[in-house]
Amino acid sequence: MFKHKIEIQKSKIMRTYQSVFDLPKLDEALKMAAEVKKNPFGWEHLGKHKTCLLIFFNNSLRTRLSTQKAARNLGMDVIVLDVNQGAWKLETERGVVMDGDKSEHLLEAIPVMAQYCDILGVRSFARFENREDDYTEKILNQFIKYSGKPVFSMEAATCHPLQAFADLITIEEYKKVKRPKVVLTWAPHPRSLPQAVPNSFADFMNEADVDFVITHPEGYELDPKFVRGARVEYDQKKAFEGADFIYAKNWSCPGVTCPDKYGQILSKDMSWTVDTEHMSWTNQAKFMHCLPVRRNMIVTDDVIESPDSIVIPEAANRVVSAQTVLKMMLESM
Ligand code: CP
Repeated sequence: MFKHKIEIQKSKIMRTYQSVFDLPKLDEALKMAAEVKKNPFGWEHLGKHKTCLLIFFNNSLRTRLSTQKAARNLGMDVIVLDVNQGAWKLETERGVVMDGDKSEHLLEAIPVMAQYCDILGVRSFARFENREDDYTEKILNQFIKYSGKPVFSMEAATCHPLQAFADLITIEEYKKVKRPKVVLTWAPHPRSLPQAVPNSFADFMNEADVDFVITHPEGYELDPKFVRGARVEYDQKKAFEGADFIYAKNWSCPGVTCPDKYGQILSKDMSWTVDTEHMSWTNQAKFMHCLPVRRNMIVTDDVIESPDSIVIPEAANRVVSAQTVLKMMLESM
């Protein structure tokens, strides 16, 4: 039965990975992830003589390390490029007279980088200059269009699908009931952060068999294409009641109800910080966060250090999610 499902998955072409919708059926992807976790070196032959290039426009700890580990487990060579450290400064807009400090255009850099690899991972956060550019994934889509190679997102302007897949794998591992209540809660942060993590988390939870609730102050409404049918509850206490998992994350204004405030901080209300009182409203929920986390802004020391905090196994599953995605992409080549 299980082998049959693996064969089905092999037949699915996976050329890009930008969102949950690029995966084959989610339950099959989860089963594959469990297999990969049990037997991480079982598919070492797939990546032999293949090179994975990881391109970072932004900082990273987990994605940088876990994706390299995942690619190496599959037998691939890995090259990491930090675009802003040592490469030429890149122009990304077509039509610009390049008489400033940018020496190379993305339209040459992309096909050149593609010459040196078989598969590309790209991290390029929202820039908050123009909502349409961010929400159409202008940078990531240029890599997909001009590289001629399979491309996967390592967090783009609006989605972080490797993180959300790891989050769902972790919920599957820790759930005590068939259909757990999962709450995504906004929490305060001193800097303006993208919506990629909450968007992708919502995307995955909406496809999974969970009771999903989103809670945030007014003005922080996520884009409807990610919220879909999820319940939105503005009263954080009501949202937390009976929860099995609390997923905390800050995000800046998504610009849905207030387009002129896109990317701005609307609130630093510390009553939204997840503390032991908040957790007492839940059904002894597990605490989750994608990390890095600002302690005593997003979550108190007590909660993140408690036995119900699963942030470390959640981070460990970043290898599993990346390896499962890379495996499926290699099988499609
Ligand atoms: N969660 C996550 O993507 O971490 P990094 O930004 O450190 O990669």
